[in-house]
Amino acid sequence: MNKKIVLLPGDGIGPEVIQSAQAVLEAISEEFKHTFTFETHSIGGNAIDEYDTPLPDETTKACHQADAVLLGAVGGPKWDQNPSHLRPEKGLLGIRKALDLFANLRPIQGFDNLLHASPLKEEVVKGSDLLIVRELTGGLYFGTPSERRNNGQSVVDTLAYDRSEIERIVEKAFESAQIRRKHLTSVDKANVLESSKLWREVVEEKKANYPEVTVEHMLVDNAAMKLITDPKHFDVIVTENMFGDILSDEASVLTGSLGMLPSASMRSDDFGLYEPVHGSAPDIAGLGIANPLAMILSTALMLRHSFHLENEAVLVEKAVEDVLDRKFHTADLSVINGQKVGTEKMTNLVVDYIKKNA
Ligand code: NAD
Ligand code: IPM
Ligand code: MN
Repeated sequence: MNKKIVLLPGDGIGPEVIQSAQAVLEAISEEFKHTFTFETHSIGGNAIDEYDTPLPDETTKACHQADAVLLGAVGGPKWDQNPSHLRPEKGLLGIRKALDLFANLRPIQGFDNLLHASPLKEEVVKGSDLLIVRELTGGLYFGTPSERRNNGQSVVDTLAYDRSEIERIVEKAFESAQIRRKHLTSVDKANVLESSKLWREVVEEKKANYPEVTVEHMLVDNAAMKLITDPKHFDVIVTENMFGDILSDEASVLTGSLGMLPSASMRSDDFGLYEPVHGSAPDIAGLGIANPLAMILSTALMLRHSFHLENEAVLVEKAVEDVLDRKFHTADLSVINGQKVGTEKMTNLVVDYIKKNA
């Protein structure tokens, strides 16, 4: 199989973990006789420094021409005081919008050997396996651009959705639930927000098309509590952009570290941009200690969802599991009697397993 992959390393630990992803994909292509070609482009803070924009046109163009995109992370203190149009995060939101990546899939699964790495009780975490389906190109992050303002005295951010935007993410969530444990929790704030009322209406309308899926509505504050007191309650969660952002960082506590969570940002076809849930981690950037597993697991999602290479995806996931079973871990995870390794060593361990077991 021939595939063109665009790499957007970004800032902070982004380039460090993108290197790991590339090493894993090179091992996969070698072992399975695929041809993956890589093209690297700028986004975020480094693009601001070099091109005066967080999202150069060339980057967008290259992504449009690619079979899939891998993104590290953007942002950092260097650009935190910039005006909003010159913030690294604007580049990330821009590429998601330009590529119409409305569905962000964030699977969260406790690895057996990391149960004790979570601050939550083992019996609470054990067996939890959920998928957050986060709307990614609308809601509070985008609102109505003409209404967004800040004159120093008053500020406006709006939460806007068209019915069609809600319909497509809700359908995606029902489809995901259908091939999982068939339970969908729609998370909203319908006791306060108009947008949530329409969201509920759409979920109620769509559920007739998926009779096997049980549906519940849950207010977001309650969902935040239940996520860490009873995570096994959940199978698929579907929710608005900002709610999904916050709940997924919270859910990472189930796995022991934010450095473990992958994600897939999908269009309506098989095209996707694959990105870890974590950010650029400026506090550890350059130290060679970042956990590359969220990024590596994101490449597994790419192999599965965009390239339909299920065996290859499973092998990458198995490699990660094997390394954790052997108690290797990066500094962000506390593992009893574990062996602490850096980014490069962790990557090599994953690559070695792939080469031995392909
Ligand atoms: P962060 O996710 O970068 O870091 C939060 C904490 O988790 C830090 O202590 C960090 O060291 C740790 N951490 C995160 N990923 C890790 C990994 N792979 N290995 C080990 N430890 C890891 O969030 P933040 O500190 O709130 O934000 C820092 C910058 O990242 C900000 O500029 C923010 O806008 C940006 N950000 C970008 C993305 C993205 O590009 N997708 C996502 C979130 C935050
Ligand atoms: C994420 C990040 C981004 C988001 C930021 C950096 C814009 O937190 O991917 O979760 O909020 O979507
Ligand atoms: Mn986030």
